[in-house]
Amino acid sequence: MRRASITEIACYTPPRVLTNADFEKIVDTSDAWIRERTGIVERHVVDPGTATSDLAYEACKKVLEQRGLRPSEIEAMIVATVTPDTLFPATACLLQDKLGMKGTWGFDLSAGCSGFLYALITGAQFIASGVHKKVLVVGSDVMSSIIDYADRKTCVIFGDGAGAFLLEPSDSGDVGILDFLHEIDGSGGPFLQMPAGGSRMPPSLETVQKKLHYVHQDGPQVFKYAVRKMFEISKAILDRNSLTVADIDVFIPHQANRRIIEATAERLGLCCDKVLINIDRYGNTTAATLPLATADAIRQGKLKKGGLVLYVAVGAGYTAGAALVRWAF
Ligand code: UT7
Repeated sequence: MRRASITEIACYTPPRVLTNADFEKIVDTSDAWIRERTGIVERHVVDPGTATSDLAYEACKKVLEQRGLRPSEIEAMIVATVTPDTLFPATACLLQDKLGMKGTWGFDLSAGCSGFLYALITGAQFIASGVHKKVLVVGSDVMSSIIDYADRKTCVIFGDGAGAFLLEPSDSGDVGILDFLHEIDGSGGPFLQMPAGGSRMPPSLETVQKKLHYVHQDGPQVFKYAVRKMFEISKAILDRNSLTVADIDVFIPHQANRRIIEATAERLGLCCDKVLINIDRYGNTTAATLPLATADAIRQGKLKKGGLVLYVAVGAGYTAGAALVRWAF
């Protein structure tokens, strides 16, 4: 078994920015409330007509260019998203066609805000088993397409974005994806969901009028679960690898709320310069938060070759996951 390494990364956010001041004009909110309760200052959103595969395309194109690869060299691709362009065909198929990836295969993966981490670990198995040598893992969401911009409890939180990692076999034994620990708890489903549009409640005039095609969230319930689970799963993966927070170079958590991240970091005993927070600029981009945060960790010099990353995410489902990665470049 060869370890999978992340050998290239790229991200894309649409150019249009919505600031907290913009939200003050559309719902009963304030810049002070949003900053204090979430840490968000601004978020990127698409113009009408732009879909998840369009954002993913930009991120994947950059990965290929940066690594000097032809699209046909990618053997498999996994797209994590909760906002596919269409229920079917899969966004992976649309993306494959746009990129001109001849002879590849791929699929979409739905795991809420843990989606990117689940896709990363799924892709890593194809490398570790020797089945593939080049796998693209993509996280892309157009959250603005499922947000009710009249609901102040949800509309200020989310943003749009995409990111992609290239996975290849590791050159050296101690570099790459070292371990992961994922779990799901479906009893949390009702607390964060889009109620209609699936087979349980197909779209109808009534579902549209009742706004059931939007994100519905019991914020405080999800908040409590996220703080507990992010800590538990981070601690568990460190313990079973005989590591402590002192061994971690950068902690990259899903960006849902600054207070969740800070509470988790404090419980873990992580000092703040090891914790990557960029929710202020992007909001919660669901499947794109981890690649966007990784790109910032590299830019800020927090993540360098040989550095140890602890990723953690919690999301709709509930889904939760953590991964330890020794950075390869
Ligand atoms: O990524 C997937 C996982 N998702 C998460 O991890 C999200 C977890 N939850 C959260 O981050 C937080 O619960 C929220 C940011 C969603 C909400 O913050 P909160 O501090 O839990 O607020 P709350 O829902 O308990 O609401 C407190 C008050 C309410 O007013 P009343 O009823 O006390 O008068 C809300 O109506 O704040 C009000 N409120 C707002 N006020 C101004 C809620 N949203 C807003 C807003 N502006 N945008």
